[in-house]
Amino acid sequence: MTNHLPSGFIFGAATASYQIEGAVAEGGRTPSIWDTFSHTPGRTFNGDTGDVACDHYHRWSEDVALLDQLGVDAYRFSLAWPRIQPDGDGPGNTAGLDFYDRLVDGLLDRGITPVVTLYHWDLPQSLEDSGGWRIRSTAERFAHYTQIAHARLGDRVKDWITLNEPWCSSMLGYGTGRHAPGAREGDGALAAAYHLALGHGLATQVLRADTTARVGVTLNLQPVQPVTGRPQDVAAAERALMNSNLLFTDPILAGRYPTLARETYCAITDFSWMHDEDLAVISAPLDFLGVNNYFPSRVEAVEYEQPDPAQRTATDLGTHDVIDPRGETTQIGWPVEADGLRRLLVWLRDTYPSLPPIYVTENGRACDDVIAPDGTVDDPDRVRYLQEHLDAVAAAVADGVDVRGYFCWSLLDNFEWAEGYRMRFGLVYVDYPTQRRIPKTSFGWYRNRIAAQRKTP
Ligand code: NOJ
Repeated sequence: MTNHLPSGFIFGAATASYQIEGAVAEGGRTPSIWDTFSHTPGRTFNGDTGDVACDHYHRWSEDVALLDQLGVDAYRFSLAWPRIQPDGDGPGNTAGLDFYDRLVDGLLDRGITPVVTLYHWDLPQSLEDSGGWRIRSTAERFAHYTQIAHARLGDRVKDWITLNEPWCSSMLGYGTGRHAPGAREGDGALAAAYHLALGHGLATQVLRADTTARVGVTLNLQPVQPVTGRPQDVAAAERALMNSNLLFTDPILAGRYPTLARETYCAITDFSWMHDEDLAVISAPLDFLGVNNYFPSRVEAVEYEQPDPAQRTATDLGTHDVIDPRGETTQIGWPVEADGLRRLLVWLRDTYPSLPPIYVTENGRACDDVIAPDGTVDDPDRVRYLQEHLDAVAAAVADGVDVRGYFCWSLLDNFEWAEGYRMRFGLVYVDYPTQRRIPKTSFGWYRNRIAAQRKTP
């Protein structure tokens, strides 16, 4: 496997607002669905919340200095909607906008390109109270919020990611209930997926008014394989592929709603939230596609546990993800197989003729990191993971896939959603009681990898 990446390839690191900022009641910020969810007993591991997180709201300049030390070309972070437009309505909130203004300037001062995600899951709670992503008007509100954010930052921020992983927002948020707002619905999850895609399209229209803006969306996608060639496993893998990938890639990259989704989900929805003219909006050309991938998916058919179709949600498809019992898994239980990332990138290229350039906007792994007696944090498993996955990206590039950059998840250990603080994904260890930042071995490794790339002709 070649590990050559083209010159001009962007190396970055990523974070998200609710996972790192803390300061949830400062600067006019109002609660998001994740504040409500994490404060509801039993929803997150240990009852952990993002109230303080990495205290990045106060320590952002220290974190920018870490990015500078790391030598990244770009930093991907998200804006908290409830900071910028409290309650998801009305004019922009100056204090919230000022915070991101300072952060953007701090990055640019150090020559780091800001890559801004507009929505990384912190929906204003008041919008959820009116229906959340189940309803069309939330997509329209999202476009308005985009306009406010762009008006303030668009002179310096050129790279805009509308949504992060809308599959998680819809299927985990409104389907399995594992994420905020914690609903378990069939029609609601599918309507949410659709309205998120529409919100992406409407926000893209807003950003296109600025001809200097580069616009993309970040999707979490899987390379999907059946565990055996048995027809029922093959069919299960097709349904899993439709649910995990096509539900978003088909509308956004090809302007169509997958036929298999219409066939499969007619038992749980009448699709009345779809309007004919939406697909043209949703599929407007993009400057790049952001791909988040951590692990491959291997699928086998299972009997429906819930025999009543009316009670099924969109993720109850009679499929079951199989984790190879002989293979390595990370601390969070995800299988490690770097070639899956290469296969996914090749699949995208082979499936969508009008595929824009790709950035891997997240990849990384959770490890059981501990501070050694000498004060260091050694994470060789993460180093190996990053190395192998960068090699997989290089192999995809060698196969002719147009991949322009890679962002490691994450700069810092942070609030890992329902898993709370027990899962550490950072290049930098965060000692939460003191908020001390300790760069791990992987931080030094990534810094050297980036420096070596710069020397490549
Ligand atoms: C997906 C999400 O975008 C991010 O917020 C999360 O922490 C990582 N992947 C790891 O699960």
